[in-house]
Amino acid sequence: MKNNFYLALNIHNNSDLKAFAKTSGITVKKLKYYAEEMIFPNITDLEKILSVTGLTDLEFQLKTGCLDSKLKQLLADNSSKISEIIASDQHDEMEIKQEPFEPVFTTKLGTLYQNDSIKLMKSLPRESVDLIFADPPFNLDKSYESGINDKLTKQEYLSWTEEWVMGCVNLLKEGGSLFIWNIPVWNTYISEILNKHLTLRHWIAADIKYRLPIQNKLYPSHYSLLYYTKGEKPTTFNTERRPLEVCRHCAGDIRDYGGYKDKLNELGINLTDVWYDIPPVRHSKYKTRSSNELPLKLLDRVISMASNEGDTVFDPFGGSGTTFIVSEILNRKWIGCEIGPVDTIKARFEDITFHEKIISDLNKDKNVLFTEETRRKREGKHWLPETLQIKRKNNKNTDQIEMFPEN
Ligand SMILES: C[S@@+](CC[C@H](N)C(=O)[O-])C[C@H]1O[C@@H](n2cnc3c(N)ncnc32)[C@H](O)[C@@H]1O
Repeated sequence: MKNNFYLALNIHNNSDLKAFAKTSGITVKKLKYYAEEMIFPNITDLEKILSVTGLTDLEFQLKTGCLDSKLKQLLADNSSKISEIIASDQHDEMEIKQEPFEPVFTTKLGTLYQNDSIKLMKSLPRESVDLIFADPPFNLDKSYESGINDKLTKQEYLSWTEEWVMGCVNLLKEGGSLFIWNIPVWNTYISEILNKHLTLRHWIAADIKYRLPIQNKLYPSHYSLLYYTKGEKPTTFNTERRPLEVCRHCAGDIRDYGGYKDKLNELGINLTDVWYDIPPVRHSKYKTRSSNELPLKLLDRVISMASNEGDTVFDPFGGSGTTFIVSEILNRKWIGCEIGPVDTIKARFEDITFHEKIISDLNKDKNVLFTEETRRKREGKHWLPETLQIKRKNNKNTDQIEMFPEN
């Protein structure tokens, strides 16, 4: 496999690697780390590498693609000379004739393609989509029904990632929003690509444990959800307020709100960029070992927040079709793609009423300070907005309002 670090060092196989380790005095393990993790060598090792290869610092940076800002500036300053050199070296790429894409499934609002989404995105009109949600494979060596390779080298995964991410950037309308769900490490690289084209609105942390604790590391407990917009501001941002967090057993306060209780908005608490309330999908009837189904609640939140009825939503990695079913229920047009089997997606649409019920139940918890259930549990035991109002009326000096005792 092509690896820029090895190529710069003229390493093509294991014996080259061992030989280079011997001559340079850098261990094989360390060389592998630099190559596989795509990390620029520390100063001592860099000096050894430059002395063995005869390369200059500049050449080494260019060969590995790890350019510092000084070099980027030099390239910009000399752009016409450099582009002349590159142009004379480039051969016209053969134009590949693209077959028209045929949908495999359509609904009142949506169109599903069974194909490679990178190819599909190139065929769709540029800047035509209002919202994109992407949940790609995480390269964790999972087995997918589609048989895709989920164990690429880092360089392979990142170059594939850049291709589909740029496909999304091109597809997004000005003012449109792009959400990318991934594990934090990959989203750090995706951010680096996106920061050049879109505006970061939020790095959302969804508090979900997704693997076992790892020795000598913190327990990985959040997925990252990148939220970017094309242009300065999103065309659509529908805020959602959430109920106040209360004790799961007695529904009492879990924080001391002091004199602020009566200042809490009766429509609930502002949604923050840490989402504690997304449940992992464990027992859905559509969850198979390889489907990776995301919770309806997550897609309901994203689609409601960043699009309006009639807008177009695109998801390049369909999986079990969570984005599509939620889009349909919320009256959004949708375009979807899945490279593997699409039977689960179709089956979910046959059972749309089941999903409609879940989405409608989710609405009950939006824009309220207390859910119906919490209200019932609190009545007579803990404060409610109306009991605070009665107290306020009876007492001219609002600072003197007595809290309801918590027990
Ligand atoms: C993590 S899953 C998505 C799960 C989905 N969000 C859901 O809730 O069901 C990723 C999916 O992307 C599909 N996939 C991988 N590479 C693809 C490609 N190049 N084009 C289209 N789909 C692809 C995989 O087959 C897999 O089903």
